[in-house]
Amino acid sequence: MSKIGVGIIGCGNISTAYLRLAPLFKSLEVRSVADIDTAAADAQAAKFGVRAEPVADLIKAGDIDMVVNLTVPNAHFEVSRQVLDGGKHVYSEKPFVLTLEEGAALRELAAQKNLRVGSAPDTFLGGAHQLARVSIDTGKIGKVIGGTAHVMSHGMEAWHPNPDFFFQPGGGPVLDLGPYYVTNLVQLLGPVRAVTAMSAASFATRTIGSGPRKGEEVPVGTPTNIHAILEFASGALVTLAASWDVWAHRHGNMELYGETGSLYLPDPNFFGGDVTLVPAGRDPVPLSWDHPFGRANTEDNSGTPRANYRAAGLAEMATAIAEGRAHRAGLDLALHVVDVLTSILKSGETRGWVELSTTCDRPAALAPDEAAALLR
Ligand SMILES: NC(=O)c1ccc[n+]([C@@H]2O[C@H](COP(=O)([O-])OP(=O)(O)OC[C@H]3O[C@@H](n4cnc5c(N)ncnc54)[C@H](O)[C@@H]3O)[C@@H](O)[C@H]2O)c1
Repeated sequence: MSKIGVGIIGCGNISTAYLRLAPLFKSLEVRSVADIDTAAADAQAAKFGVRAEPVADLIKAGDIDMVVNLTVPNAHFEVSRQVLDGGKHVYSEKPFVLTLEEGAALRELAAQKNLRVGSAPDTFLGGAHQLARVSIDTGKIGKVIGGTAHVMSHGMEAWHPNPDFFFQPGGGPVLDLGPYYVTNLVQLLGPVRAVTAMSAASFATRTIGSGPRKGEEVPVGTPTNIHAILEFASGALVTLAASWDVWAHRHGNMELYGETGSLYLPDPNFFGGDVTLVPAGRDPVPLSWDHPFGRANTEDNSGTPRANYRAAGLAEMATAIAEGRAHRAGLDLALHVVDVLTSILKSGETRGWVELSTTCDRPAALAPDEAAALLR
């Protein structure tokens, strides 16, 4: 299969993961990087043996077919728009865009130019979440009636050297971490019909904990403690708690409750982890299978083995383009997730529930042999 030439715009924190992991996939070849901070682009180019060039040149380059948008959230729309305008497919980091209007504009532009749009997260393609998918699709817990999802910690200012964007509109735990949780819920349960939420910002400032700005205070301009309820079109009701104001808790990352049992899922921010089935009235049963995107290939900071296949969604999109079929981490899914997330924030502001205006199909499941075919 011929490779798709990939360019990366945005050479910050997460670009290292893409540059390191893209070579795992046979459809991808990263050829160029760009950033408004040219020193950041130069540094990544030197480290990973690709070229650095101005953003406009990367978009024009003849050997670039698809551009990965790794800029900060409030630049996502404009950078993706420029990429499509320049005639290239675009794959954005999450959150895909910040408003439905922005997403609709990208959809229209992509359709006009016959180009594809994709978006992270792609962790729902991970071995653990695909195992949960197969378990639900084969009726292991019956019809899902509800669930809970908790993503709570004490924030991003401890580790990110420039955490400002996390605490401004476009950031916050719902838009920053919600995409992993809601995307996974949508691939498992289908689209959401309505949401309701309450929200607060418990701290007016945050103190940077690492890097050259350590000790500096950054203002908080968006809710950081949000409790939401999602009503799915299927009728399932799921509680989502997303907070950067919590020091410790004992909730599972994700639990789904079905008519004939429950399923415990690992953190959808990662590709792997433990999936446990609890059939009605019986003891918990750990589930496992050998899925390529569940195999540990790295270690986290504490030395725990982890599966990290970030760029899998990008590789799957490149392969889908070559094969002329729909890609899984697509625009309709990403935009529906943005609708869910922004509606949660709107509900928190207005203190009323919000009916969603978008919907999407569940992305196709990714079987182990299909995942294996994406790898080198
Ligand atoms: N850091 C992570 O672990 C992580 C994980 C998953 C997803 N993400 C997502 O990836 C995106 C980037 O995060 P990050 O942590 O790498 O941020 P970052 O601030 O470290 O890097 C962003 C880079 O984009 C550049 N940039 C900003 N606007 C630009 C523009 N208009 N044109 C060109 N370059 C521009 C900045 O100069 C900077 O180098 C965010 O949307 C974030 O939500 C980050």
